[in-house]
Amino acid sequence: MINVIGLGYIGLPTALMMASHGVEVIGTDYNKELVDTLNAGKTTFKEKGLDELFDAAVKAGIRFTTEYQVTDTYIVSVPTPYDKFSKKVDACYVVAAVKDVMKVCPKGATIVIESTVSPGTIEKYVRPVIEADGFKIGEDLNLVHAPERIIPGNMVYELLHNNRTIGADDRAVGEKIKELYSSFCEGEIVVTDIRTAEMTKVVENTFRAVNIAFANELAKICRHDNMDVYEIIRICNMHPRVNILQPGPGVGGHCISVDPWFLVGDYPSLAKVIDESMRTNDGMPDFVLNRIYEIMKENGMTDIARVGLYGLTYKENVDDMRESPTLQLLESQQRHLAAGLKVYDPFIEKDVVANQYHDLDEFLAAVNFVVIMVKHNEIRENMEKLAGKVVLDCHNICGLPGVYHI
Ligand SMILES: NC(=O)c1ccc[n+]([C@@H]2O[C@H](COP(=O)([O-])OP(=O)(O)OC[C@H]3O[C@@H](n4cnc5c(N)ncnc54)[C@H](O)[C@@H]3O)[C@@H](O)[C@H]2O)c1
Repeated sequence: MINVIGLGYIGLPTALMMASHGVEVIGTDYNKELVDTLNAGKTTFKEKGLDELFDAAVKAGIRFTTEYQVTDTYIVSVPTPYDKFSKKVDACYVVAAVKDVMKVCPKGATIVIESTVSPGTIEKYVRPVIEADGFKIGEDLNLVHAPERIIPGNMVYELLHNNRTIGADDRAVGEKIKELYSSFCEGEIVVTDIRTAEMTKVVENTFRAVNIAFANELAKICRHDNMDVYEIIRICNMHPRVNILQPGPGVGGHCISVDPWFLVGDYPSLAKVIDESMRTNDGMPDFVLNRIYEIMKENGMTDIARVGLYGLTYKENVDDMRESPTLQLLESQQRHLAAGLKVYDPFIEKDVVANQYHDLDEFLAAVNFVVIMVKHNEIRENMEKLAGKVVLDCHNICGLPGVYHI
C-alpha cells in the first residue's frame, strides 16, 4: 500500500492516478476540510480530466484520511516555498512530513519525496532529522527523490506521458520505485542519484524562467522604440536554431516563479543570469500597470475604476492563483492608488479581491478598458464582446484592430 502525504495540486492527482492503475493507495492530508471534501466525493480544484480520474480511483478503493498510515512506501507531496529574504528553499513542510512518517513507518520503509527541492536539501535538512532519531538510512529507512514535472491545465495527460526522474541512494531501491511509477507512467523513467534528481527539476524550471525573461525583455526593448515584438519573434523563430517564447504580464504558480530562486539563494555569486531573469519576470506586473496608465492617458481616461483586469489565475484554464501576475499588479496598484481596478475570472467563484465580478457580461458593462491578463478559453471565445472597448492584450490573442500590447 502507498501512503501519499499531501493531497494538493500534485499529491491528489498522483494518488488518484496510482489508485486507478491498480495500486492500493491511502491519501493523507492534515487539512481536515480538504479530506472531508474528498470523502464527500468531491475534488478540491478544477483540472481537465480530474473528476473522471477521481471517480475511477474511488471505484478502485482509494481512501482519504488525516492520519499517517503504517506501510512500506510513502510519497511526500507537500509545499516547498522559498524564503522571500534569503531566496533559499523553505524545507519545513517536507521535514515535518518526514518526522510524522517516522513516527509510524516500519523498518525498511521508503520515503519518496516528490516535492521540488533545491540541490542538497535532502542531504542538509532531511537526512540529519532521520539520523537524529537513530534511524540508519539504507537499513531502517530508504530515501528517494521523484520530482514532479506536470503542468496545471494538462496534469492528467502529463502524469501519464511525461518522462520522469528518480533519484535514490541505492539503485535497487530506485528501481523498485521506478516499478511503482511504471504502473501508470508511459514515459521514460531515469534512475539517478538524489542530488542529480534535485538539480534537474530546479534546472528545468530555471530554463523556462530565463527564456520567458528573455521574451519579456525583448517586449520592453520593442516597446521603448515602438517595434512589434510579436512579429520580430515570429520571424526570428523561422531560423532553424531559434525558438523564442512569448512575452507576457508576468510569471506565477508554484514552479517557474519560485524554484529558480533556490539557485539564486544557494549560489548568489554564480547565478547572475538567473537572478536578473527572475527580477525581469517579477517586474512585468508593474510594467503592465505602467502601460495601463499610459494607455489611459492616451485615451483621455482618468477613472481607474473603469479599467478591468480579465483573469486572476496565474495561467489559462486553471483555478490556481498562487503568485499570479494579476494579484501582484493589484498589490502594486493598491500601493499607488486608493480605489481601483475591477477584476473578473471565470475560474474564481469566491470573492478574493476587491471589485471582483462573477459574470463576464456584468464585468464588461462596468468597464471601458479591458486588460487581458490571462488567456482563458472563455475570453478567446467571446472576443466580439470587447468591440468598442479599449483593450490591452498581454498575450496577443485578440486580433481586433486598435488593440494595445505590452
Ligand atoms: N502545483 C504545481 O504545478 C507543481 C508542479 C510540479 C511540482 N510541484 C511541487 O509539488 C509540491 C507540492 O505542491 P502543490 O502545488 O501540490 O502544493 P499544495 O499546497 O497544493 O498541496 C500541498 C498539500 O500538502 C498538505 N500538507 C502540508 N504539510 C503536510 C503534512 N506535514 N502532512 C500532511 N499534509 C500536509 C497541505 O494541506 C496541502 O493540501 C511542491 O514542492 C511544488 O513545488 C508543484
